[in-house]
Amino acid sequence: MNGIKLRGTGRAVPTGVVTNDDLARRMDTSDEWITSRTGIKRRYRCAAETHTDLCVRAAKAALERAGVSPADIGACIVATVTPDTVVPSAACMLQRELGLPQDIPCFDLNAACTGFVYALHTMECLLNASPRRFGLVVGAEALSRIVDWTDRSTCILFGDGAGAAVVECREDWPSIGAVLGSRGDDELLRLPGLGMGEANFLSMEGTKVFKFAVEAVPACIDAVLDKAGMTAEDVDFFVFHQANARIIDLAVRKYRIPPEKYYKNIENYGNTAAASVPLVLSELEEQGRIGPGSRMLVVAFGGGLTWGGAMIEFA
Ligand code: ACO
Repeated sequence: MNGIKLRGTGRAVPTGVVTNDDLARRMDTSDEWITSRTGIKRRYRCAAETHTDLCVRAAKAALERAGVSPADIGACIVATVTPDTVVPSAACMLQRELGLPQDIPCFDLNAACTGFVYALHTMECLLNASPRRFGLVVGAEALSRIVDWTDRSTCILFGDGAGAAVVECREDWPSIGAVLGSRGDDELLRLPGLGMGEANFLSMEGTKVFKFAVEAVPACIDAVLDKAGMTAEDVDFFVFHQANARIIDLAVRKYRIPPEKYYKNIENYGNTAAASVPLVLSELEEQGRIGPGSRMLVVAFGGGLTWGGAMIEFA
């Protein structure tokens, strides 16, 4: 299979910010508890913005950085569990707002926090069958809409935001070698669908998800390395889904990853589910910490349950 590489990334966040102290004024929690258990200090929350606004801003920034015209996009995927509307999909709204071609597939993908990694693999497959070389992959969430703001065990964790990447597919590039998995479980993480007669809130068995994550992350890393025929030392940068700083720290210790080879921005965003990985990629690209030639191992896990990893590069 021909491989994809990143051409450019972008991101967008809403104007609303909720700090730990804001939460501590509303419920029985504290900045100290949240920071020490999760690494989170603040998170963004949609005020007037819609999910579509975030997608459009992040995608425009990625297209600009990539120097790619909307007319050259061959497929558009939005990874999300919180679109403004189920129909039309967020990707179809992006098609309209950006003026993407009408003869291309545009659809949303739900793999919860693993969504962006699933979407990269799906995009690689689609572009292999497309006459166009470029694809638009967005991870975007308005999770503030589906967290119960009276439940201190979940509302402290999640935030809103969007990240986007324009990718290119070429014959002489290797596949990203994605490793994806899933195991149906509606107890550890659950967000009811429309018309189910349940409150439309996310519920989570936090400690059990934590245990699942500390096994899933290294299993994914090992599988990606194995598939790529590489060792952890060969990787230039580890891009972790930002769910909890302690989960990242455990992986960093296990693989002895030096500080210059990984990144945490969870302090400022919380867990933004499908937006988490592209938000990291966009900040790192902007800071010049990753670029052409950097071999990046991305790894994510989330509801479903789902998990996934891949080895990606910039063009
Ligand atoms: N402030 C103060 N105390 C709290 C809070 C809070 N915000 N939340 C819970 N507590 C209390 C609990 O009530 C409990 O008290 P008790 O011992 O008297 O019963 C105590 O703190 C410990 O609670 P635990 O849930 O055991 O705390 P834990 O150390 O496991 O941390 C956390 C909880 C942060 C949620 C952790 O389990 C975690 O990060 N899990 C992973 C979450 C995740 O990665 N989700 C990703 C997927 S999300 C998706 O896909 C959409």
